[in-house]
Amino acid sequence: MHTILITGAGTGLGKELALSYAKKGYSIIVTGRRLEPLEAVKEEVQSVGAKAFAYQMDISNAEDVKKIVGRITSEHEVDYLLNNAGVGCFGPLTELDSDEIETAIQTNVLGTIFLTKELLPHLLKREDAKIMNIISTAGQKGKVNESVYVASKFAVRGFTESLQKELEGKVHVIATYMGGMDTPFWDETDHIKDKSRLKSPREVAEMIIAQDDKLEIQI
Ligand SMILES: NC(=O)c1ccc[n+]([C@@H]2O[C@H](COP(=O)([O-])OP(=O)(O)OC[C@H]3O[C@@H](n4cnc5c(N)ncnc54)[C@H](OP(=O)(O)O)[C@@H]3O)[C@@H](O)[C@H]2O)c1
Repeated sequence: MHTILITGAGTGLGKELALSYAKKGYSIIVTGRRLEPLEAVKEEVQSVGAKAFAYQMDISNAEDVKKIVGRITSEHEVDYLLNNAGVGCFGPLTELDSDEIETAIQTNVLGTIFLTKELLPHLLKREDAKIMNIISTAGQKGKVNESVYVASKFAVRGFTESLQKELEGKVHVIATYMGGMDTPFWDETDHIKDKSRLKSPREVAEMIIAQDDKLEIQI
């Protein structure tokens, strides 16, 4: 039985990935900053017959990541890290405040790096270890009013491609690119007018899982 740790698993794509991997037979560790949605997803995962565990962890805080990864690895053997947590940052550059910019870079870039670095020694002891980084088409081309978000996702792309080379033959590292999805990601912004026209995160999760033997997934 393999165990997957998914970040940002209380909502949106992370939640659907948790449910889909549970149906595929994985034990699921859901993480995020808010415990309430994580507990709800944990119960949903358990209701499909899989093991599930919830841990509160802010990936943007290196100390928190170290502490919680220590707890998780003392209680579980983790085979697969799915870096899904991320935040948006949209609008003309001159209108973005520095707090928003810092949060986007701190979460999307540093959060992904902190957690991967902390869990990697543990993953390297497992056979068939995997890391998947949820990037976005924003990691492939520049977009109007998305400069900081795009910068953060280009950074995650560079991180992912480098680890693919650095860990070749030891850990299967997957870069996943997708367009818009109808998730809470868009709740605090009017950057997208009608999110209901976007793909459902369930559909995207199923497409991802069907292709996770690849190094690059394009949806
Ligand atoms: N929605 C789209 O159109 C779209 C398109 C392409 C790529 N993506 C990417 O897909 C991923 C998932 O996004 P989503 O659309 O599913 O949005 P979402 O529902 O807002 O999910 C993001 C999750 O990240 C968690 N999170 C945020 N900051 C965190 C932190 N510092 N530490 C730990 N967890 C944190 C949030 O939970 P808490 O607030 O409880 O921490 C939330 O559950 C993101 O990486 C996003 O960039 C989204």
